[in-house]
This record gives sequence, structure tokens and C-alpha cells, in this order.
Amino acid sequence: MAAREPVVTVALDPDWASGALVEDVRRGLGSQPRTLPPKWLYDDVGSELFDAITRLPEYYPTECERAILRDHADDIVAACDATTVVELGSGTSDKTRTLLDAFTATGRLRRFVPVDVSDATLRQAAAELSARYPSITVEALVGDFTLHLGHLPRGDRRLVAFLGGTIGNFYLEERAAFLGALADSLEPGDWFLLGTDLVKSSDRLIAAYDDSRGVTAAFVTNCLHVLNRELDADFDVEAFSYVPFWDPRMERMDLRLRADMPQRVRVPGAGIEFDLAHGEEIRVEISTKFRPERIRDELAAAGFSVERTWTDEGGDFAVTLARLAG
Ligand code: SAH
Ligand code: TRP
Repeated sequence: MAAREPVVTVALDPDWASGALVEDVRRGLGSQPRTLPPKWLYDDVGSELFDAITRLPEYYPTECERAILRDHADDIVAACDATTVVELGSGTSDKTRTLLDAFTATGRLRRFVPVDVSDATLRQAAAELSARYPSITVEALVGDFTLHLGHLPRGDRRLVAFLGGTIGNFYLEERAAFLGALADSLEPGDWFLLGTDLVKSSDRLIAAYDDSRGVTAAFVTNCLHVLNRELDADFDVEAFSYVPFWDPRMERMDLRLRADMPQRVRVPGAGIEFDLAHGEEIRVEISTKFRPERIRDELAAAGFSVERTWTDEGGDFAVTLARLAG
């Protein structure tokens, strides 16, 4: 039998330089402190570098979350009555296969909807998944989970998976806005499966975000290549250092790029130009680490009640199953 073709819908403006990138860059790089929103890390090169990060010995979250899903996929499937699984920021959907294996074994699952901004990675994953799971339809959405939750399919009982600790990459207010928007896009009784990295020793956290092979540094620095390519910017990429640190007050990793020499940067595609002082930093990404009470409280504030929480043996990572209250 020929493999089924996945259905791919594109909600994202395919021409980055004409759309949201310009707005984000004007707002983020044009203000103090200078920031860049992390979704622009994931062009094709960035997605490959992220995939390499997940295989680094220092980057423990992927293996911890994989172990939780492997050990508890059957519990998750038994606890919830979903017939459509949506995955936000799905990337390669590698770990999700464990869950889909368990769901398809029940014969109840009808559809899988992976959502990601990274077009090529998503298409590749969708093709593999539809070949692997002939009994379900794969409806991929090339989209931004901060903008396009209204495009999620309706009708079925849904489980929305948001794995990899990606929720920790939002700032506090963005996280509340995201959870609120997600609740608005779901029906009472729909399910939410959330992967969160937990607070732990700063040594292990710093090692996870500053690996000895420099893969993470290359991943973060890649955002400057994206701007040089897409917006014709002239960042002197070699003249930046990667500076990751643990912020104990906010309980998050703070990942920045620091200018090693003063430079004037022109970004013609966004119509801006600015001077970076020696030592000036651009904030690229945060990665918040959680405590169980905080997960519960933030979910509750958006209308979700926690039904089950699983952690790995070492207690490094948590997967929480919550349900939207009626
Ligand atoms: N879920 C995978 C990948 C996590 S990396 C895992 O657990 O390993 C984060 C993923 O989210 C990347 O694939 C990236 O392309 C995607 N992403 C980042 N910001 C996004 C946004 N605003 N909308 C949709 N996808 C986004
Ligand atoms: N969601 C991942 C995390 O917060 C993304 C990530 C992993 C990441 N390594 C990174 C983001 C390094 C920026 C830099 O762990």
C-alpha cells in the first residue's frame, strides 16, 4: 500500500522578511535592553542544531522526558478520551511517537496535528508519521503557536501536547497569555499534556546550556545569521560571545549574545540601524525551570486542572496532564 500523504496547511507568512520578523526585530532590537524573540532561532539550520542539542550528553531534558513518556504512555492514554492529538512546537515529533504508538493501539485516535514554525522539519516529520500510522490522518500546520491557535481543528475531543520544556521559553506575561489563548481555543473537557523542566542545581543547568562542543553556542548565534540572510543585516557574527547564566531569582536560564567590540549594525530589511557598545548584550532566550506548585497554579489561572503529574526517576523533568474545566 502506498504511504498516505499528510495534509499540510500553512498559516505562517512564508516570506519571513515581509512579515512578523520585521516587526519583531524592530521592536526587540530597537529597544533597551535589546532582545530577539526565540522563534527566529529555528530556521532549517537552527532546527538541525536543536536536534543535535537533544543528543548532547549534557542536555538531560530530552532523555528525561522520553523516559517519562515511555513509562507512562499507557497511563496517559487510559486517563484521557482524546481522539485528536495536537502537538505544539512539534519539531521532529520524535518523543511523541511513543505516545502515538499507545494511542493508535487503542484504535481510538483519528488524527494527529503537529504545529511548528519550522516548515522543512515539520513537513519531513509529517511525512514520516503518516507512513508510520496509516490508521490516522496527519494534518500538519505550519504556524506560530502564539498566533494561530484559532486554526486548530474542532469537533473531536482533543489532547494538546506541548513538550520539551518549550513553555519555559516564554517570559512570565507571555506564558499567561499563551495559556489563556490555549484555553480559549479549546472546549471544556479537552486535555493538555505539558512538559516542564524542573529547578535543579545551577551546575547542571549551565552545563545543559553551555555544552563543551559549542553546539548550543552555535544554535543561539544562528539567530544573527538569520538576520543577516533574511533582512540583509551586517552583524559581525564572529565578534559576539555566547553568555548563558542562571538567574536564581527568576529561576531561569538567561541566554545572551555579547558584543566583543563596539559595532554599528545595519538591518536594512527592518529599516533600523544602531550602535552596540563593547560588552553590550542581546537577550536571545530564557528557559524557565519550574516547581510543581507553580505549574499547578499557572494552569489553574488559565482554567486547567491538573489530573496527573509524572516525573523521571531523578526528578529532573515533569509531564503534567491537565484538563480544561467546564
Ligand atoms: N517538541 C520538540 C522540539 C522542541 S524545540 C522536543 O520536545 O524536542 C521547540 C520547537 O518549537 C521547535 O521545533 C521550533 O521550531 C518550535 N517553535 C518555536 N517557537 C514557535 C512558535 N512561536 N510557534 C510554533 N513553533 C515554534
Ligand atoms: N525548549 C528548550 C529548552 O528551553 C530549547 C532550548 C534548548 C534552547 N537548548 C537551548 C534554547 C539553547 C536556547 C538555547 O531547553
